[in-house]
Amino acid sequence: MTDLTTRYLGLTLKSPIIAGSSGLTKSIDNLKKIESHGAGAVVLKSLFEEQIHFESQKQIRDNEAATGYGYAEAYDLISNYSRDHHLGEYLDLIKKAKAELTIPVIASINCYSASEWVDFAKKIEDAGADALELNVFILPTDTEMNGDEYKQIYLDIIKKVKASTKLPVAVKIGSYFTDMGNWVTKLSWTEVDGIVMFNRFFTPDIDIERLKHIGGGRFSTEEEFYNVMRWIGILSDGVQCDLCASTGIHNGDAVIKQLLSGAKAVQMASVLYQKGFVEIENANKRLSQWMQSHGYTKLDDFVGSMSMSKAENPAAFTRVQFMKHFAGIE
Ligand SMILES: Cc1cc2nc3c(=O)[nH]c(=O)nc-3n(C[C@H](O)[C@H](O)[C@H](O)COP(=O)(O)O)c2cc1C
Repeated sequence: MTDLTTRYLGLTLKSPIIAGSSGLTKSIDNLKKIESHGAGAVVLKSLFEEQIHFESQKQIRDNEAATGYGYAEAYDLISNYSRDHHLGEYLDLIKKAKAELTIPVIASINCYSASEWVDFAKKIEDAGADALELNVFILPTDTEMNGDEYKQIYLDIIKKVKASTKLPVAVKIGSYFTDMGNWVTKLSWTEVDGIVMFNRFFTPDIDIERLKHIGGGRFSTEEEFYNVMRWIGILSDGVQCDLCASTGIHNGDAVIKQLLSGAKAVQMASVLYQKGFVEIENANKRLSQWMQSHGYTKLDDFVGSMSMSKAENPAAFTRVQFMKHFAGIE
């Protein structure tokens, strides 16, 4: 008998497989299916900081168009109304999810500043969420700003959010940092409870026939888990918070590899779109079967046992150039 229980963000999860934030995690119907297929937790679709601003602006424009004029008090009133209104729907989703599910419900906010949205964290806590995931990314397009200034925004967001809520907080980061080792370790020294590595960004593409910008590939491929596994393996021993693997995790084998590298939990999104929620169940089965065949009864028996510091050959993690010996190709 295998026990798939893990601890992540101070929560007990019956499986290390979490349904990651996506359009699939915004309806109660789907959330119930995700639970029935064996997910350990679910991250709700993100509330976007941009979305909140956009909604406020739209209402202001509509109001100005209707009345023919606009004034500062109306701006404040409408923007607060709109923010609360939109948030109200999100809070309802949290409340309903908590009422219908037994697994932990992690709310998510997609943000790029430590502005007033931070107050929402408390409301999310009051609505009953078990944790909060902050999806932070600022595309570094400002030629006047250096890397430390960008990173300070992350630190400010974490500090402000942790000051406004008692919820466990995870920060979901992208994979484009020059000093990944130093940065993730530093992030783990903050009050943050977990780091999700990595978010996968929307990318632009061009339709060369219609000469239009379109969205690039929405879904990850199975090969994308390698880069995540590398960094989880390199960093898991040294960090002071949980690491959760995300991107390219499409099956049980990829789950096992992330856990061996030191992840406390993993997230799946693309494969749930492509093959359905049954892939959570399949991955849980594969994990159990693999544990049995290796004589493991619980996750602690092997999680992190193949991280870089425990590897027979640590160079397997740090080598970046192809060599016949490692790549196995001519
Ligand atoms: C259609 C779609 C919508 C997504 N929406 C969100 C979102 O609202 N918030 C978020 O943090 N991540 C979002 N993601 C990113 C996923 O949570 C995940 O980090 C990413 O897709 C990599 O994991 P995967 O390889 O399992 O897809 C979305 C992904 C997809 C494919």
